[in-house]
Amino acid sequence: MPLLAVEHLSIAFGGLAALSDVSVAVGEGEIVALIGPNGAGKTTVFNVVTGLYRPGRGRVTFAGADLLRLAPHRIARLGLGRTFQNTEVFRALATVDNVLVGEHPRLRAGVLAAACWLGAVRREETAARARARTLLARVGLGDVADVPAGDLPLGSQKRLELARALAGGPRLLLLDEPAGGLNPTETRTLMDLVRGLRDELRLTILVVEHDMDFVMGISDRVAVLHHGRKIAEGTPRAIAADPAVIEAYLGSPTDVATG
Ligand SMILES: Nc1ncnc2c1ncn2[C@@H]1O[C@H](COP(=O)(O)OP(=O)(O)O)[C@@H](O)[C@H]1O
Ligand SMILES: [Mg+2]
Repeated sequence: MPLLAVEHLSIAFGGLAALSDVSVAVGEGEIVALIGPNGAGKTTVFNVVTGLYRPGRGRVTFAGADLLRLAPHRIARLGLGRTFQNTEVFRALATVDNVLVGEHPRLRAGVLAAACWLGAVRREETAARARARTLLARVGLGDVADVPAGDLPLGSQKRLELARALAGGPRLLLLDEPAGGLNPTETRTLMDLVRGLRDELRLTILVVEHDMDFVMGISDRVAVLHHGRKIAEGTPRAIAADPAVIEAYLGSPTDVATG
């Protein structure tokens, strides 16, 4: 059984069919890329999986649990972490506090508990802060933990978002254009980081990305969306050579690195 199974998903906005009968499965430990032109429906898949959109038809299960019955915060607590296409750090907050925001799904103490058990809450917060600093060091931001996140360059903000998504302790990470706006060196660093984290933390990853070096270099499998339909799925090498994919998205085969 795959860890994440998206089956026969359809969703429309007004008259527009954003997704039509889309199925994608991600096995435990796999890195699967979702690619396709702008407007193909990639982010919509993420929004359905994380509970922000309710599809007209289809099924989404995570470790066997039916996600379509759950609110977004319950889905996060099951072990789903996410980054967003547009970098969304709290610019005025210190980098470490941005990571702490991501701890929210795993903190046990709610408001009531906070009123009754202040000591326990403080201990939890101290432990969370220590974990946040460790995570920042792991993504290469240990030196800027106390700097306002808005002062960081884009490449660092992207890695901060990754650390924040990891702070919830996810089993599955959804990354929406993690290399968007990054230069080739930053992209390479991010790719090595994501691959290393997958191995260390035994993560499963579904990633949307336009940078084909990143996609080809990191994915076990690639699924291609076009106008809300899945037009192909296969190994990176097979996808890069698929005439329908080249026609819809990739352009001439020589544009793509197949390494
Ligand atoms: N909340 C929404 N309201 C209306 N239309 C939407 C909404 N979300 C997505 N869409 C539309 O659905 C289509 C797919 O969007 P999206 O999933 O963001 O594409 P991608 O991430 O592949 O670029 C687009 O035509 C987009 O305008
Ligand atoms: Mg998108």
